[in-house]
Amino acid sequence: MDRRALSTLAIATAKEVFELLRDDLVAIEQELGRDAASGVSTITEIAEYLRGGGGKRIRPSLLLLSAHTLGYSGQSAIRLGAVVEMVHTATLVHDDIIDGADTRRGRPSANTTWGNEKCVLAGDWLYMQAFKVALEEKSLRVLDLLIGLTQQMVEGELLQIQKLGRAVSEAEYYDLIYRKTACLFSVSMRLGAVLADASEAQETSLAAYGRAVGLAFQIVDDVLDLTATEEVLGKPVASDLREGKATLSVIHSIDHGTAADRRTIQRVMNDRSFENVSREKIQAILARNGSVEYAMNVADRYAEQSRQALASLPDSEYKHALLWVPDFVVAREK
Ligand code: IPE
Ligand code: IPE
Ligand code: MG
Ligand code: MG
Repeated sequence: MDRRALSTLAIATAKEVFELLRDDLVAIEQELGRDAASGVSTITEIAEYLRGGGGKRIRPSLLLLSAHTLGYSGQSAIRLGAVVEMVHTATLVHDDIIDGADTRRGRPSANTTWGNEKCVLAGDWLYMQAFKVALEEKSLRVLDLLIGLTQQMVEGELLQIQKLGRAVSEAEYYDLIYRKTACLFSVSMRLGAVLADASEAQETSLAAYGRAVGLAFQIVDDVLDLTATEEVLGKPVASDLREGKATLSVIHSIDHGTAADRRTIQRVMNDRSFENVSREKIQAILARNGSVEYAMNVADRYAEQSRQALASLPDSEYKHALLWVPDFVVAREK
């Protein structure tokens, strides 16, 4: 499918969506700036470094769009937008330690600069800073959502470690990416709904949207790991398989390729390197089996599912922006 054609059908553009959220996003950056300060200078340095690295800010944007779609705007959305971004940042710090990644957002990763010990602690501090800011809402519902979320994310990363080197099933893969990625997208949407005092049905719809967008997002992240360059992506490429992680297109080739394909892929996962089997060889296997296309088609299906989840919500420019996000997610290059 021609992805450019797909994006011309989009009913909003990145610039329009950014304009719509600009004031709120500026306020969230200010909130993040205030929240990055600790009495211990190393923590402030690391938190500031992470904040300065930028990032797409997709999770706070979703929270804002969710709240606005239902007519809410106010300080709580700014605070909780900062909260979901801080939770995300904390998971990135820990994830880069676990993955041994040396770049993030086009710069050396924090663990490269400060070392693992300090970064584990900085990640812990960031989680707690997120909860401290969330506490200002004085809402047990909000805390309950964030606690459940954090446990899912940690469980996701742990399950991933348990499955390293194994040709997991598609079902195991979806469970894993729901926990480690889509759950945060879903909770971001849910928090926006909670702020807007949404009906149960509206909250469920927005959460379902977040889940589907999040699944598409991680599937595309996993495809980009196999197809992109580090220069564009700003983080290591071809790292998943080398770390022993079978992602959707690789799973597809394992399930539908030849016995030799399976052995070749398993070799990389056993060796934890491309020393004996080159990255190009793996790419050729994926190409022959149409596996990247398969994964992108699944991502497209989740994108479509997410749009359908919004069907019963009132029409507005915010809803239009939400309808555009899945196109952005599947067409993005980083
Ligand atoms: C990276 O998330 C981690 C994944 C869930 C794949 P993003 O791609 O949203 O990272 P930033 O915040 O834009 O750097
Ligand atoms: C996302 O998985 C994990 C998190 C939720 C932090 P990845 O390990 O694929 O994320 P990247 O590719 O390092 O950003
Ligand atoms: Mg990683
Ligand atoms: Mg990745």
